[in-house]
Amino acid sequence: MLSTLVRLSLVLSAFASVLSEAEVFHFASYYGDHMVLQKAPAKAVVWGYGKTGAKVVVSLSGPLKISANYVPVINGIWRTTLSPVGAGGPYNLTASQSTNDSSISLIDVLFGDIWLCGGQSNMAFTVGQVYNAKEELAMASKFPSVRIFQAALEQSSVELNDLEGVEVPWSLPTAELLGGKDFSHFSAVCWLFGRYLYETLQYPIGLVESCWGGTPVEAWSSQRALHKCGLKSSVSRHSSVLYNQLLVQSNFWEDISAEWDSSVLWNSMIHPLRNMTITGAIWYQGEANAAHNRDKYNCSFPAMIDDWRIAFHEGSDGQTALDFPFGFVQLSTWHNNSQDGFREIRWHQTADYGFAPNERMKNTFMAVAIDLPDEKSPWGSIHPRYKQDVAYRLVLGARAVAYGEKNVSFQGPFPTQGLLNQSFISIVFNQDISASLDDDFFEVCCSANKMCGTDQSWLPVPIIKQGSDYIILSITPCPTEHIAAVRYLWKDWPCKFKACPIYSSDKVLPAPPFILYRSSN
Ligand SMILES: *[C@@H]1O[C@H](CO)[C@@H](O)[C@H](O)[C@H]1NC(C)=O
Ligand SMILES: *[C@@H]1O[C@H](CO)[C@@H](O)[C@H](O)[C@H]1NC(C)=O
Ligand SMILES: *[C@@H]1O[C@H](CO)[C@@H](O)[C@H](O)[C@H]1NC(C)=O
Ligand SMILES: *[C@@H]1O[C@H](CO)[C@@H](O)[C@H](O)[C@H]1NC(C)=O
Ligand SMILES: *[C@@H]1O[C@H](CO)[C@@H](O)[C@H](O)[C@H]1NC(C)=O
Ligand SMILES: *[C@@H]1O[C@H](CO)[C@@H](O)[C@H](O)[C@H]1NC(C)=O
Ligand SMILES: *[C@@H]1O[C@H](CO)[C@@H](O)[C@H](O)[C@H]1NC(C)=O
Repeated sequence: MLSTLVRLSLVLSAFASVLSEAEVFHFASYYGDHMVLQKAPAKAVVWGYGKTGAKVVVSLSGPLKISANYVPVINGIWRTTLSPVGAGGPYNLTASQSTNDSSISLIDVLFGDIWLCGGQSNMAFTVGQVYNAKEELAMASKFPSVRIFQAALEQSSVELNDLEGVEVPWSLPTAELLGGKDFSHFSAVCWLFGRYLYETLQYPIGLVESCWGGTPVEAWSSQRALHKCGLKSSVSRHSSVLYNQLLVQSNFWEDISAEWDSSVLWNSMIHPLRNMTITGAIWYQGEANAAHNRDKYNCSFPAMIDDWRIAFHEGSDGQTALDFPFGFVQLSTWHNNSQDGFREIRWHQTADYGFAPNERMKNTFMAVAIDLPDEKSPWGSIHPRYKQDVAYRLVLGARAVAYGEKNVSFQGPFPTQGLLNQSFISIVFNQDISASLDDDFFEVCCSANKMCGTDQSWLPVPIIKQGSDYIILSITPCPTEHIAAVRYLWKDWPCKFKACPIYSSDKVLPAPPFILYRSSN
């Protein structure tokens, strides 16, 4: 009896000390001076810690004066939703607690659009590592309305409500912050995406980077999402040759050799952010799944997107759209002379449609990067330095899909029809094309029993003619009745820099890889 009592009181006092620390009046980890809060028509959510039983009121001073209603502190946490505030600033945001006269403030707060940037090392790749890094870094301070924030690298086996650590608190961009240690801060794709978007929108952009090199999609997915794809909660064991090569080549995080339990980064680096109101997310990941649950990626990636959307929508009390725009980069290249699963992952990134958005992945957009190989990258060819092109293509997608600009083309040509006769296949595209009559990029599956599973069934066929929106392939030497499918760019590394055979008519956007199967009739 006595020992039970002692143990009970020990537990109680430990609990009390945790509580008293939590009850210190402050904002949650990802609110800070110089931050960007989501602008109207959405309402920004602001939350923090305080004394249970007290009340908290938040007010803004700046171009407009706005006061929210008092909200109660429940279990040491308060949370308020501001009235919609139009783009601009600067504002000071003050929270005051009713129990005493204490107040806490955030200064120089702007209202604009918040974009979350996630993924693995190609998202972590910093502005200091890209081509023309010097010029990019020198330009940084000319964009004081594009603000950056970065979550620290943390793992957790349970869902956390706040970040365990912050790598870069909300800041104005500087050369030092954008060009930190390799793969540390700040993400080039994230920054360039924000900067190009700012050049179009001309109002503040807040960038929230939360990514980690070498990580599989399972680590960023909740148990709920994994369950939808029949993926058990388990350790992702990267014993494959491919993964070990990835580790050797990448030389980035010290803890890269860690094995990734499923959900550990969702728990610690995404779930805590779900109560913030955001506009959308961009994502560059998939390399680590080329040899890990690869053929589940067509389920796990769309399921992760769905799940993030639900979580952010619920967490923000409906302020973040349930179908918020989600942009992603289709994998670039790694090895010129072997097939390591990138072609399958590229296809699975689109839920096997080949393009985005599509029926399964609504309100998404994709930047094709297959034509941006970088054999001489100092960080290994898996880390191409052409991040400006990647970000530019992503921004075209954001403008069209997220911002509804009607006249922005953001997708390369995609086939609408393939016709087969005795000697030819003609492929008609959904737009005018610019094509070069190169061999070796199209292949047909030539198989009497229609088995296309191995590369031996596929024969290269030449483009023999092109029109404004079509090409014609010769199928000799395969008998027409043996043709089961045709595929394009079905190699891990098919083209030289910006030299794939088919682009949009203005030569800006490459046609993504595709497979067309012969319809059974
Ligand atoms: C008021 O609250 C603040 C923040 O929690 C605390 O630091 C301060 O000691 C409190 N003052 C009084 C008089 O209780
Ligand atoms: C915000 O607070 C800072 C520091 O206290 C002050 O210099 C500035 O004038 C304030 N700005 C507004 C808009 O209230
Ligand atoms: C995903 O791809 C695999 C392998 O190609 C296929 O067997 C499976 O049916 C696909 N699943 C979905 C959900 O598309
Ligand atoms: C975040 O949102 C979830 C879901 O609505 C809610 O249960 C949780 O209390 C919120 N957390 C905070 C700190 O507001
Ligand atoms: C699209 O339309 C807007 C407004 O009409 C115009 O400013 C912009 O230059 C156009 N963009 C393109 C790519 O044509
Ligand atoms: C086969 O298709 C090609 C390209 O569309 C066309 O030029 C040709 O006339 C067709 N041949 C036959 C026999 O239909
Ligand atoms: C791949 O490497 C070989 C040998 O170095 C080279 O001849 C070929 O042009 C390369 N292919 C591409 C697409 O870069």
